[in-house]
Amino acid sequence: MSSSDMKVITVVGSGLIGRSWAMVFISGGFSVKIYDNQPGQSAKAITEIRKQMEELEEAHMLRGDLNSTQQLGLLSSYDDLGRALEGAFFVQECVFEQLEVKQSVFQDIERLVGKDVILSSSTSCLVPSKVFSQVQDKSRCIVSHPVNPPYYVKLVELVPHPETAAAVIDTTHSLMTKVGQAPVRLRKEIDGFALNRVQAAIIAESWRLVQDGVISVKDIDLVMSEGLGMRYAFIGPMETMHLNAPAGLEDYMKRYGEGITRILNAFGPVPAFSSGEAAKSIVNEMCELIPNDQQHLSARMERRDQLLMGLAKLKKDH
Ligand SMILES: NC(=O)c1ccc[n+]([C@@H]2O[C@H](COP(=O)([O-])OP(=O)(O)OC[C@H]3O[C@@H](n4cnc5c(N)ncnc54)[C@H](O)[C@@H]3O)[C@@H](O)[C@H]2O)c1
Repeated sequence: MSSSDMKVITVVGSGLIGRSWAMVFISGGFSVKIYDNQPGQSAKAITEIRKQMEELEEAHMLRGDLNSTQQLGLLSSYDDLGRALEGAFFVQECVFEQLEVKQSVFQDIERLVGKDVILSSSTSCLVPSKVFSQVQDKSRCIVSHPVNPPYYVKLVELVPHPETAAAVIDTTHSLMTKVGQAPVRLRKEIDGFALNRVQAAIIAESWRLVQDGVISVKDIDLVMSEGLGMRYAFIGPMETMHLNAPAGLEDYMKRYGEGITRILNAFGPVPAFSSGEAAKSIVNEMCELIPNDQQHLSARMERRDQLLMGLAKLKKDH
């Protein structure tokens, strides 16, 4: 496929993630056709995107070289899958996180596109060998897992099916880089990919420390936001270790490896997250800090997104 053929991307599913992907792709100058199986839903998505992009432009946070009118001119909505797929070189699926729904959507898509078209899924929890099990040519399939909201959090985990062609991974990596995302390649599929596995480890230990009465809910969150998170917005755990001993990583492990091993060996079993007194008490403690009604949660979500926007701006300048 020549680069002149690589101009149109179809986004299938116009919910939270579909809308975000559409904004990311048009910021890179691609034409984006949005499809949703709920009639009128993809047109509504464009109205929502227009509102968000105008706000972003006002805040000087619009991504890409084009202004919001130019970017919005690249967007179109469809209630018909066949028409939405016409001309596309790349399809980003963003439907419900239900295996059967994704499998059937990819079967439909495969019937309607040429053999060179890349089929990419946004799934957060399903491995490619399951998502693409009904697709005949799996060499063109890949998971491109975004982090919410992808407009500010740029990581994309590229996870191949065992049969994915190397060229498909390379093209997807180039596309994601071109639109300003930060793609990482997993060399093979694994449950939880990389991000959610690391996140699960952090969740488990945070939960355990609160459950065992070591620290409060409020303070364990501060351990991340005022401690580890300060570094992790710019450098990962590997570089952190490399820089935290005078002679680098090997030196770090000579000094601290034994202590880390001792701590890890003392980790207990996976905590009970959703049953028992301890879980109830952790949930109550959290809800005292931030009540779980829509009004409080929405306000905190908005605050989170504003803070992420500021951080994205800071990272852009470094
Ligand atoms: N929300 C997140 O934080 C997040 C982060 C990373 C990845 N993801 C993944 O992205 C995907 C989409 O999640 P979301 O949060 O946008 O969900 P959502 O519920 O907001 O949107 C899903 C959209 O898909 C549409 N849809 C459902 N079945 C369809 C079909 N057969 N054909 C076309 N459209 C269909 C729905 O009408 C809806 O508009 C999921 O796989 C999810 O795991 C979500």
